[in-house]
Amino acid sequence: MRQAQNWLIVGASGSGKTEYAKRLIQAYKPRTRFGVIINSTSQLSEFVRHKEYVTLEKLQKSYDPAMLAKLIRAHGWVHFEIPGVDTPEKFAFLESLFEGVWNLGIMDTSRCECVVIADEARLVFRKHRMGFWAKRLEAEGRKFGIDLIKIDQRFGAQDNDTTDMASRIQITRLVVFPTSDPNQRRALMGMGAPIPDPITLERPIPAQRLGGEYAISDYLRGRAWVLKRKGRRFELQKIA
Ligand SMILES: Nc1ncnc2c1ncn2[C@@H]1O[C@H](COP(=O)(O)OP(=O)(O)O)[C@@H](O)[C@H]1O
Ligand SMILES: [Mg+2]
Repeated sequence: MRQAQNWLIVGASGSGKTEYAKRLIQAYKPRTRFGVIINSTSQLSEFVRHKEYVTLEKLQKSYDPAMLAKLIRAHGWVHFEIPGVDTPEKFAFLESLFEGVWNLGIMDTSRCECVVIADEARLVFRKHRMGFWAKRLEAEGRKFGIDLIKIDQRFGAQDNDTTDMASRIQITRLVVFPTSDPNQRRALMGMGAPIPDPITLERPIPAQRLGGEYAISDYLRGRAWVLKRKGRRFELQKIA
């Protein structure tokens, strides 16, 4: 039976997260009926048939869950570009969206019907701003065939500008990209995964079209790997 996944992808700005997300989306697309991509830019929108530009003005009239579910059913994969600023209306919109997504799920963990991808996840799954449906998606989505992919440069920070902490117990796959931020390194190494210190990972070299190094830990299988760069070649090393 297929295991549903809850991904957390972390690393500094420019460390290769979005590039990795593109590859994940390409892997998901042929076998996943519905995809919801959320961020505050047009990045990743090249993968969808419908792009919904959710402006602050549009948030004034509320989107309802049934309408959003209908939109996703109609197009399959939808990109939502949401405002980067925090307003109560934005979080209300996200609640409607997640309730709509919930209605697309099916009680069958052998099939992933839907994947929710949040780049800059702290704008969406924000500490102290998690509504009922956001929490439910994190806690129970996997049982309904809804995968979650959260991508951010800040995780487990002391202040509120970070992703929700409760979600860390739900993570099934942790992907760590280079970062030199001491707080992020500490938070990541405290995740109970056998990953190397993220400061030791090599960053991408965009001018040479060369990706960076990353470590991936699969909690369900208790396995971990690190992708190491040797010149222009890459080598996947098993570390657990
Ligand atoms: N695997 C890769 N192959 C080629 N270029 C890459 C790869 N990964 C990252 N890059 C380049 O490095 C830069 C930063 O990557 P990006 O994924 O946007 O980082 P992040 O999302 O972590 O800020 C981009 O210019 C990107 O094109
Ligand atoms: Mg990015």
